[in-house]
Amino acid sequence: VADDLDLIAEINRLKKEKNAVILAHYYVDGAIQDIADYIGDSLGLSQQAAATPADMIVFCGVHFMGETAKVLSPNKKVVIPDLNAGCSLADSAPADKFAAFKAQYPDHLVISYINCSAEIKALTDIVCTSSNALQIVNSLPKDQKIIFAPDANLGRYVAHKTGRDLVLWDGACIVHIDISREKLQKLREENPDALLIAHPECKEDILLQADFVSSTTGLLKFVQEYPHDKFIVATEAGILHKMKESVPHKKLIPAPATDNNTCACSECPYMKMNTLEKLYNALLYEQPEIIVPENTRLKAYASVARMLELSK
Ligand code: 13P
Ligand code: SF4
Repeated sequence: VADDLDLIAEINRLKKEKNAVILAHYYVDGAIQDIADYIGDSLGLSQQAAATPADMIVFCGVHFMGETAKVLSPNKKVVIPDLNAGCSLADSAPADKFAAFKAQYPDHLVISYINCSAEIKALTDIVCTSSNALQIVNSLPKDQKIIFAPDANLGRYVAHKTGRDLVLWDGACIVHIDISREKLQKLREENPDALLIAHPECKEDILLQADFVSSTTGLLKFVQEYPHDKFIVATEAGILHKMKESVPHKKLIPAPATDNNTCACSECPYMKMNTLEKLYNALLYEQPEIIVPENTRLKAYASVARMLELSK
């Protein structure tokens, strides 16, 4: 603990000295969330990355998030604590395979979930996040043909909610699809008074039975504002840190993972690669730095900027 306190003091000192800002996703370790300048969902984090006056962004999340920050703020240095912090959704869509897939549907518009590489964003017309996917799809003419990538669960959810027929890329989040149907059913039977709230990266059967579906920020707001005191939370367990802090009197139960998971609840192994020590090193050495080739960046920028414009 003494070591952690030293690290936190050093991180705060370096942050001032270098005019750096720490952005963190709700899924990273609580100790990192506690020293971040801004914590949020993917949309909020992108908006912050685009607007920050800092010279350096230290992005505690996963690689595609740092990359999106660099796409939006090319003149700032963007570093992430661990270059290996990837994402199964981003990995599911290699650019060459996706380009070939897209070529089969020349009259389709491409909407990509922000959980993808800058190369995929460069092949995309409009990026979306879990908090604006419905709004973005609904903003398009009813007869617009759409490819939705890379998350098939979010895509199915959006198709269901909007009544559209979307062409889906078959990607998934390893964390959200690993929530155990059987254990969840048992938990619901034991807690009949709990509301089930879920992230749209969950499988269809969970989303169909959920009382509320939203992004991480949406789920956090829901437990804060909805007049109910018991929730089963079907998303990565990191979100419980802020939830517990803001509504300590409410009972929050993380949805159970299958036995494949190292944790009884759902943990993202990539998000958990972020540690205070790696954060300190990233600030000190200003690496690993995110670099995006300018031709890719410009094309990716167009699709991310369209999303930000539509989300105002
Ligand atoms: P949001 O925070 O935008 O809901 O995204 C969740 C997620 O899985 C990020 O990797
Ligand atoms: Fe990717 Fe899922 Fe981890 Fe989010 S929780 S970073 S979608 S693997």
